[in-house]
Amino acid sequence: MGDHLAPKAKAMLTASEGERLQYVMAPKWIGYARAKEALSKLEDLLVHPKMHRMPNLMIHGPTNNGKTMIIQRFMRDHPHNDNPDGDAAEVPVLTVQMPFSPEPRRFYRTILEQLFATYRSSDNLANLETQAIRLLRACGLRLLIIDELHNILAGRMDNQRQFLNLIRYLGNELEVPIVCLGIQSALRAIQIDEQLANRFEPFALPTWEDGQDFRRLLNSFEAVLPLGERSFLASDNMATAIMAKSEGTIGEVLMLLRAAAKYSIINGISHVNEGVLGACDYISPRERRRAAER
Ligand SMILES: Nc1ncnc2c1ncn2[C@@H]1O[C@H](COP(=O)(O)OP(=O)(O)O)[C@@H](O)[C@H]1O
Ligand SMILES: [Mg+2]
Repeated sequence: MGDHLAPKAKAMLTASEGERLQYVMAPKWIGYARAKEALSKLEDLLVHPKMHRMPNLMIHGPTNNGKTMIIQRFMRDHPHNDNPDGDAAEVPVLTVQMPFSPEPRRFYRTILEQLFATYRSSDNLANLETQAIRLLRACGLRLLIIDELHNILAGRMDNQRQFLNLIRYLGNELEVPIVCLGIQSALRAIQIDEQLANRFEPFALPTWEDGQDFRRLLNSFEAVLPLGERSFLASDNMATAIMAKSEGTIGEVLMLLRAAAKYSIINGISHVNEGVLGACDYISPRERRRAAER
């Protein structure tokens, strides 16, 4: 029993119900092909020789489709070293979230806070900028990542332009590649600045469609669900049902399968089947939208 499972999931078969449920909910990395491609692009950028115009990358795709997860995985391999005995911390890669309102001062304050720097919140933009750039150099920054770039669009047009200038300036000053992540509209935001647009290579993380890659993903998920018997998630019927309910983002697929596994465990069912997919505690995006409209 459980020969289709990854070792950890297999070991879980004999654990208590509580432990199995916890294991189902625990975050796990699944390395599907497109994510591995993105990671290898990030690795390439990290070792790119310094030059005036560094190449940049724009990872775009629908929300809940694994963009941030790729960055988290990348950060695991390139952690900060606080270097308590040395002078400056070593920060080869820094990830900042674009603030909800795109104000440059706020952006620099976010950077300084992440680096545990003290600053005067009353400081003007020029000072904050100088301090942030000096510190980022001292930390040996080699790659800057900006998540949720689409938040730029929440600002007025002149704010948006100002921010894109800032990104271009940072790239030039630090001579590091910049990686941005965001939904489709983030790509549009970058287009506002022609020079910047030319320097960003788009990398799409599109909604999943049924096909070989999707079936592979389902098999990967199945291997970590602590259920004794095979569910054949990658069979035609199951794959079609999962795709229809989840609408094809990896986050929704995972949420559905977690709910299904939970249902199976609680009800003593040894695998997931179509009945379980229908009965489990998962509300599809479509149903959620409908509920919101009511
Ligand atoms: N490679 C992956 N392996 C396992 N789970 C993933 C993976 N990518 C995404 N997920 C799941 O999908 C959810 C949404 O992913 P996230 O990276 O936050 O999406 P986005 O940043 O595109 O909105 C995550 O909480 C995680 O549970
Ligand atoms: Mg995200």
